[in-house]
Amino acid sequence: MKYAIVGTGSRHKMFRGAVAETYADRNALVGLCDINEKRLALSANAVPASGNGVATYRAEDFPQMLSEQKPDTVIVTVPDYLHHDYIVEAMRAGSDVMTEKPMTIDLEKLKAILDAQKETGRKVTVTFNYRYTPARTQLKDILMSGAIGDVTAVSFRWYLDRVHGADYFRRWHRYKDQSGGLLVHKSTHHFDLVNWWLGSSPVSVSAHGTRSFYRAETADALGLNPRGPRCHSCQSAGSCDFRLDLEADPALKALYLDAEDEDGYLRDRCVFDDDITIEDTMQVQAVYGTGASLNYTLCAYSPWEGLEVKFYGTKGELSHRHVEVHGVFGGKREKAAGSESMTTTLHLAGQQPRQLDVWEGEGDHGGADPVMLGYLFDPDAGEDRYGRSSSHIDGAWSILTGIAANRSIETGETVHIDEFLAEHGIDLPQKEW
Ligand SMILES: NC(=O)c1ccc[n+]([C@@H]2O[C@H](COP(=O)([O-])OP(=O)(O)OC[C@H]3O[C@@H](n4cnc5c(N)ncnc54)[C@H](O)[C@@H]3O)[C@@H](O)[C@H]2O)c1
Repeated sequence: MKYAIVGTGSRHKMFRGAVAETYADRNALVGLCDINEKRLALSANAVPASGNGVATYRAEDFPQMLSEQKPDTVIVTVPDYLHHDYIVEAMRAGSDVMTEKPMTIDLEKLKAILDAQKETGRKVTVTFNYRYTPARTQLKDILMSGAIGDVTAVSFRWYLDRVHGADYFRRWHRYKDQSGGLLVHKSTHHFDLVNWWLGSSPVSVSAHGTRSFYRAETADALGLNPRGPRCHSCQSAGSCDFRLDLEADPALKALYLDAEDEDGYLRDRCVFDDDITIEDTMQVQAVYGTGASLNYTLCAYSPWEGLEVKFYGTKGELSHRHVEVHGVFGGKREKAAGSESMTTTLHLAGQQPRQLDVWEGEGDHGGADPVMLGYLFDPDAGEDRYGRSSSHIDGAWSILTGIAANRSIETGETVHIDEFLAEHGIDLPQKEW
């Protein structure tokens, strides 16, 4: 299979490695495309030498890449608000698409993708790696077994710590019109998990959200004055726990600091700026087609990183807690060594709670990424009994909760999904589970 990648930033490396290295015996990387020539060259130079090397194209030459290289599949790893343009153009040129999450960020762009998919019949895969984390697949396995009976309610909390969480307030993610806010950008993973775990989709959503922490007032209270527009030139950098030191990390320096003269993309903008438009504290209440309800919280400045989920069922409860740790983005906070832990508890009515052996795996995102790449790029991977691969339909349902939540935050009203879709002329089939 021939693959081309558009968007050669941080995330594309995982896909490049899978196509050009891990599964290179049956796949070929035929093209790379980006708006930034330096990131493009870094990526092309990292591809193992074969033939004449991989062809590179500037963003405006994307149509030329499609016509010259004729990729079977285009992998889309540009910022979220640009996904739809490349997804639609690739499908219209006859390629299938594999896109990073979120598939897109609002209903206008979603309609453009769904219309183009309907017209062309091309395949869209949304790479929801979280479904493949062994511990979360195990929850699906237990729910599929019927052990806790019918699921009536879900309580789901996701905690981003002040290293990982802060990173969403530095660059394009921090603008709602570029990422959809964290309820779309980040929670698309979580709402997709709930859709998949329950085998259902939301019918109504209400939400509340604020930016309570990543604000000038917090920086003032921490004595971070004066502040610059970015860490690199900030006079308070030496005393700021939120500093991202691009110079200190050769990979970040090469990818962003050394490439910023091309396009002005600053990777280390101040997380306390006034022009940030996304929330850092969000709560959502949703009702699903099965009648089950969801109560969800996302906090982006927690003292720890991880998740807690509990399924309430007619025969008992299933709970999972994952204390995860991030520490890759610089900053001064020490990674809490040895603190990572996962627990899954099955508590059937009338019995003592049982701690289960949690399924584990090696690799990024709790062991998810290598398992997912196997299913994506190895045609011999076999049938997946958990139905983890995600189409444009899954991609659409996974963003609908967050897009509706954004609307509810704006209006203070409950959003009814069928009316919301109809308002935008979108005919979205229910997923057949
Ligand atoms: N599934 C996951 O766990 C996961 C993790 C990280 C990122 N992501 C997703 O991957 C995507 C990329 O994220 P990232 O962190 O690599 O971002 P990034 O900013 O590091 O990279 C984006 C790249 O797109 C390029 N680009 C910008 N505008 C362009 C245009 N008009 N045409 C072509 N290229 C353009 C940029 O120059 C940059 O090289 C996002 O959609 C993000 O949500 C997913």
